[in-house]
Amino acid sequence: MNRDDKIAIVTGANSGVGYETTKGLLKNGFRVVMACRNLEKANSAREQILTEFPSSRLDVMTMDLSDFESIKTFAEAFKEKFSHLDILINNAGILLNKPKKNSAGIEMQFATNHLGHFLLTSLLLELMPDSKHSRIVSLSSVAHKNAEIFFDDIHCEAQTKWDTPYAQSKLACLIFADELQRKLTQSGKKIISVSAHPGGTDSGLFEQMPPFLMLILRYTFAPLFLHSIENAAKPILKATLDKDVVGGDYYGPTGLFEMKGPPGIAKRTKYSQREDVGNQLWKLSEEFIGSNFEVDAP
Ligand SMILES: NC(=O)c1ccc[n+]([C@@H]2O[C@H](COP(=O)([O-])OP(=O)(O)OC[C@H]3O[C@@H](n4cnc5c(N)ncnc54)[C@H](OP(=O)(O)O)[C@@H]3O)[C@@H](O)[C@H]2O)c1
Repeated sequence: MNRDDKIAIVTGANSGVGYETTKGLLKNGFRVVMACRNLEKANSAREQILTEFPSSRLDVMTMDLSDFESIKTFAEAFKEKFSHLDILINNAGILLNKPKKNSAGIEMQFATNHLGHFLLTSLLLELMPDSKHSRIVSLSSVAHKNAEIFFDDIHCEAQTKWDTPYAQSKLACLIFADELQRKLTQSGKKIISVSAHPGGTDSGLFEQMPPFLMLILRYTFAPLFLHSIENAAKPILKATLDKDVVGGDYYGPTGLFEMKGPPGIAKRTKYSQREDVGNQLWKLSEEFIGSNFEVDAP
């Protein structure tokens, strides 16, 4: 493979925002690896994308982000096939309406949305050229505003609202992006870590809401306040491709309630910017994945 090839990974690329982000990257000349847990769905999404972009280079590789072994296997397979990685889009996500843990006993949304991507990034960072064009994009949500990191209750067993574990996990994604950027800066690396959220869009995520809420949202709120999946991918593509992006930026739609509108700098809580929380989350995440995530000097 040519060193000049621009390679991107999109996790959860078979549907929703990841699917549209994949198309945006292909349009911009990237070879894209769709990192998905379900091969059948991923291959069918790939076929569909190729009808629109027949001459693109689009690969499918399997990875279940709730399973650390699966992530390690993916990273090994990726390293065998590719010499470098320019863009990592940590997009995959789940929203659950009932408590659930992964096979290691970790709250499922924290494991999938945050820890899975934390581990994946730690395994792939060494492949990224030391350039401002190398980017790690982490997907957060306006839901981050409804939580803190419950260090004394990380599995949210004492939380009473059904969506608090999701909110905590999306806050963790945002804090991770910042803490990674701090470590990249401290080590003198030019690689950029940035975060983005899609606003609101009627994607696969909706299917996991409590049914009454999903119906209300889909048939009353959505047509008025949410935007298309294609538009929802725009802040992610801006964070990935815009030359003016600075490490630690957070992008999202700038319209009403940040649910839709043109992409720009998104609003975030003060809590999400606390360095002490970033540091503590990083250490906790290292404990969960069972290894240190060091960001070495170039
Ligand atoms: N939709 C919104 O309004 C909204 C708002 C704020 C933030 N977000 C964020 O946007 C991102 C994309 O979500 P979306 O709206 O596009 O939802 P989506 O259509 O449900 O897509 C989520 C993707 O993640 C994949 N995924 C889930 N669990 C996985 C696992 N264990 N391993 C690997 N892949 C996994 C799904 O695969 P399967 O198809 O196999 O399930 C799917 O491809 C998420 O991070 C979400 O939190 C969405």
